[in-house]
Amino acid sequence: MKEIEMSAGGGQSPLDYNIVLIGFMGTGKSTVARCLGKIFSAEVVEMDDWIAKQEKRSIPDIFETYGEEYFRNLETNLLTEMRKGSPVILSCGGGAAMRKENVDEMKRGGKVVLLTACPETILERVKGNENRPLLKGKKDVESIRKLMEARCAKYEAAADIIIHTEHRTVAEICEELITKLKEME
Ligand code: S3P
Repeated sequence: MKEIEMSAGGGQSPLDYNIVLIGFMGTGKSTVARCLGKIFSAEVVEMDDWIAKQEKRSIPDIFETYGEEYFRNLETNLLTEMRKGSPVILSCGGGAAMRKENVDEMKRGGKVVLLTACPETILERVKGNENRPLLKGKKDVESIRKLMEARCAKYEAAADIIIHTEHRTVAEICEELITKLKEME
């Protein structure tokens, strides 16, 4: 982490757009967002945390009480809200890029970065966590692969940049991401 802060972070100009991280559950969006937050000295917004705080309920509780559609509308609300503020690093929930209007909103003030990993790695990363209602009773490679495949085209269509996270450190991921962002300038 130190290394990347020195090499990529040193002299890093402040963000003038949002960096929006999308991708399947367990692809490392939150970890990468925190690292980028340090590098750019920027605010990090964790979509799920923001929603849970606003609703004063956990994500599984929101799904159970109000259903998925209600949760999806909260994701859309957050993206609309964000347009009004200064640039942030936004770590999106895994389903946020499935709505076209959300992707339009992400792209309006930001660069969209897709993080990827294979189903086996995802399973390793999520297996001890009970906070993801869509994986309840489906913590196996086949179920994860199926949902990933169903989402894949939308993820890729939304992405300005795609970063593979398999067997890589967070520092390496951030470094590649920043290099690719610079290439787009
Ligand atoms: C979801 C991903 C979760 C959370 C919710 C739904 C999804 O976020 O928003 O459980 O539809 O993929 P993470 O991707 O941060 O786990």
